[in-house]
Amino acid sequence: MIFDIDMIREVYSQLPGKVEEAKKKLGRPLTLTEKILFAHLSPGVAVENYRRAEDYVNFAPDRVAMQDATAQMALLQLMNSGRKKVAVPSTVHCDHLIQAYRDANTDLQTAKVTNEEVFNFLRDVSNKYGIGFWKPGAGIIHQVVLENYAFPGGMMVGTDSHTPNAGGLGMIAIGVGGADAVDVMAGLPWELKMPKLIGVKLTGRLSGWASPKDVILKLAGILTVKGGTNAVIEYFGEGTSTLSATGKGTICNMGAEVGATTSIFPFDEKSATYLEGTGRKEVADAARKIIACLQADPETAENPETYYDQVIEINLSELEPHINGPFTPDAAFPISAFAKEVKEKGYPRKMEVGLIGSCTNSSYEDLTRAAHVVKKAREAGLSVNAQFIINPGSEQVRYTAERDGILREFEDAGAVIMANACGPCIGQWKRTEEKSERTNSIVTSFNRNFAKRNDGNPNTHAFVTSPELVAALTIAGDLTFNPLTDALTNDKGEKVKLAEPVGFEMPPRGFEVKDAGYLPPSEDGSQVEVKIDPQSNRLQKLEPFKPWDGRDFEELPLLIKVKGKCTTDHISMAGPWLRFRGHLDNISDNMLIGAVNAFNGETNKTLDPLTLQYMEVPALARKFKAEGLGSVVVAEENYGEGSSREHAAMEPRHLNVKVILVKSFARIHETNLKKQGMLALTFVNKEDYNKVQERDRISIKGLTGFAPGKNLKVVLHHIDGTTDEFEAAHTYNEQQIGWFKAGSALNGMK
Ligand code: F3S
Repeated sequence: MIFDIDMIREVYSQLPGKVEEAKKKLGRPLTLTEKILFAHLSPGVAVENYRRAEDYVNFAPDRVAMQDATAQMALLQLMNSGRKKVAVPSTVHCDHLIQAYRDANTDLQTAKVTNEEVFNFLRDVSNKYGIGFWKPGAGIIHQVVLENYAFPGGMMVGTDSHTPNAGGLGMIAIGVGGADAVDVMAGLPWELKMPKLIGVKLTGRLSGWASPKDVILKLAGILTVKGGTNAVIEYFGEGTSTLSATGKGTICNMGAEVGATTSIFPFDEKSATYLEGTGRKEVADAARKIIACLQADPETAENPETYYDQVIEINLSELEPHINGPFTPDAAFPISAFAKEVKEKGYPRKMEVGLIGSCTNSSYEDLTRAAHVVKKAREAGLSVNAQFIINPGSEQVRYTAERDGILREFEDAGAVIMANACGPCIGQWKRTEEKSERTNSIVTSFNRNFAKRNDGNPNTHAFVTSPELVAALTIAGDLTFNPLTDALTNDKGEKVKLAEPVGFEMPPRGFEVKDAGYLPPSEDGSQVEVKIDPQSNRLQKLEPFKPWDGRDFEELPLLIKVKGKCTTDHISMAGPWLRFRGHLDNISDNMLIGAVNAFNGETNKTLDPLTLQYMEVPALARKFKAEGLGSVVVAEENYGEGSSREHAAMEPRHLNVKVILVKSFARIHETNLKKQGMLALTFVNKEDYNKVQERDRISIKGLTGFAPGKNLKVVLHHIDGTTDEFEAAHTYNEQQIGWFKAGSALNGMK
């Protein structure tokens, strides 16, 4: 048995008592999020009326999941933690390092060869420390977690920002950096800011072309990429029980795009059906017995404004299919308004590639609905007019879909079935015959569409939508096509409309798989040897960062003042750089190379204040470091948006950047910076951003009295001899100030 039924039984045996105790202590009904959070307080932490989005609280999650790109750094840190075995069930999933190029088999074999050293390292460390290992080809982390590990009422952390996918099965699942995962694996309390609650009431029922994806695409338009910051999105209302578990997973998955801490749905019979269908009848039965703990108290739905900080209502019966993009997932358009937008903005109308897959939309239901659209189109004499790529979410989904003829439908229409992996979603896509910067449009069922993310081309306009709409637009080959209203011309010259998608929530003949790709760890891994070749390009042992020297930062040069969006993709690009995720020095050569310099509007070109020559950002940071100088990065809103990638925090730390001073941070990234011993500051007055000049030296005063809630002083020393002074705020608590002083959280742990 892959899942840990004993752990789940233990959690369920305590849930009712803990929930009752919390209700009594607070004297009010509880939302689902509160029930699960209060039931997972660390031992010794009391139930209190914690201030949302302000108070830090220690929790004890039940599980950890890591994907291959982030697991390398997480496990390198675990090896330095002094622990012998993980304290909670944990898994590693090899999904990010497989490049999509030819087809599933060819690409998987290539990936196994090119990443052999890394896969072997992950396998051996997993084996040594008692971690379950999912081999390359087993599937995408969040799909595999949903199929095997997620359980209603549980709490997990994962080193990937789409970990909230498990919220589809009623789990509080949060994306974190590797250092946070190490805390949980080491059995230490894990700290989180008590989240605000956004209640989303779903009424009605989806029909026709509308899909679960459209709920979150619409919500992204309402909340924008920052709207969910420090909040859990909790869904309630009768509409929730009309959605499949994987559909709910899709919605929770993409809550990451609005910056939400996580998203969650209540347990219901759809959850039970999915648990049973994926071999976990015991969990379904056990959950049914404590169902009241796995749903919000009914009073909260009657009076949602009292219990949630914000309430949004979406009527599924009226929901229109959406397409979001390009370049940001919150540019939301109902399909009826999209063609106009394409024409007005002059987006390339020719739809060149349709891609179905990613952790967001690669379930059996997703594939069957899209395949149905394709099948009916071909029966009506239509052909596919763009390149078509499918990445199944897991080997279980792939095997079952192949058995049931679903993959054949796609292949007969000219689609290529790629490996069960992230592939193009994370830039692992060798897009054939592609000239590097050609302007073009693609449509995906993924969650993100930042510039360069899929194919490295800054002029690829990537739009995200549901798998069924990807199928429809791929058939049309035209971005302005609306399958609800428009007709296409078939091989007989007749006008035909596409049939509405119909799919199967669960495979009618059940799931089946020959080899799911799981490798359990040894009972006793103490004798397992983990080898890291000192000459390796891919892996490097971690050296602890130096502790703070006890002094204010004086006159540090500005490394770069960033303009506009700066996601973790801009700070530490993925794609070809994924191969260095286990080698901090090598990957640091991508630091901030995607960020736009506010002074010249260019990327990876920043001024050396000494020579007045423009240099690449990492090269200038290395130069400063070699001269014994720290440096400062200044940026705008939601800095570090996007992912849990802690390389985006470790690289500046490694290259001796001391301070990141921004208008605002994305939650995970801010924590990652703190964990690595960086100083993460925000402008108290956002206008002060404008005072920063290209050749400034920057001092940070007040560090000797660094204390929670107390602002620090920033002094800008301009080249003309004048200065500007202003305050910068921070969100460090006592423990986090300890990390800063120790040089990192890991140093503090030891
Ligand atoms: Fe992989 Fe893309 Fe999801 S990179 S984990 S499929 S967001």
